[in-house]
Amino acid sequence: MRHFLNPLDFSVAELDQVLDLAEEIRQDPARFRDVCKGKKIATLFYEPSTRTRLSFEAAMLNLGGSVLGFSSADSSSAAKGESVADTIRIISGYADIAAIRHPKEGAPLVAAQKSWIPVINAGDGGHQHPTQTLTDLFTIRTLKGRLSDLTIGLCGDLKFGRTVHSLIFALSRYTGIRFVLISPEQLRVPDSVRKLGLETKNIPFKEVERLEDVIGELDILYMTRIQKERFFNEDEYIRLKDSYILDAEKMKLAGPDCLVMHPLPRVNEIATEVDDDPRAVYFKQAHFGVYARMALIMTLLGLKGDETAC
Ligand code: NCD
Repeated sequence: MRHFLNPLDFSVAELDQVLDLAEEIRQDPARFRDVCKGKKIATLFYEPSTRTRLSFEAAMLNLGGSVLGFSSADSSSAAKGESVADTIRIISGYADIAAIRHPKEGAPLVAAQKSWIPVINAGDGGHQHPTQTLTDLFTIRTLKGRLSDLTIGLCGDLKFGRTVHSLIFALSRYTGIRFVLISPEQLRVPDSVRKLGLETKNIPFKEVERLEDVIGELDILYMTRIQKERFFNEDEYIRLKDSYILDAEKMKLAGPDCLVMHPLPRVNEIATEVDDDPRAVYFKQAHFGVYARMALIMTLLGLKGDETAC
């Protein structure tokens, strides 16, 4: 049984297969509408979510399966003190696969160790968000035609932004990748990500504070929200929250093929005037997430498009 807790849980070849399947699904979704008939996904969300939870649910429904779950810790037995380990033992008897989002780093791993069904990490604290990465890779591959030879600017909260951490680890396995890390000094990538994701792999990168200085050299600008809920000190959040605002003026400095991505939700780091720029692909990216998650569910359940399930 496979889990998906970290993008590195899959080899590059396996990830490429998932992305190929996502593309097949995108081309002809109807072919996959009964693949998961009789299967259930449990979405166990101990932290707020719109896209991730609903795209998992849409993915399973599109595959002909069904969904159960909860969308906040308050509405589950976590409020009574039940551990994630006990909850997953129970859910293992109710569903075929589970997606878990939790504020504590490592909670999905703890769940996976006790689970009888595949567990997907749908975001654990400020640590990892591998299915957002799958979505991001699928978006880049579809719109750029490649996952190699790219200069990627990651901008905003690189310290607490889990999507950034997972994306660095995943992209650093492709050739010709160069990162430009754009953040205030206080929100730079954690040492563990810098060391393990970049330095030990000899991935070229630079750390800068001003977006304007580097935007022109990027193939992809990946904007992120300042992660308010992970700050210990509210004053510090208020000081940093408007560090970056991408607007039409700054977009003039970006190249004609530079894609602007964002895992969403956006707060105010991208002005709404940018939404109509053809280089802004964040809404498309969110839609691609459904195909990526459909492909992941099928892969973890060991299902192929041509078979009928069960
Ligand atoms: C991200 C997350 O939860 O980490 N959202 C998402 O899943 N698309 C990004 C964020 O909340 O800023």
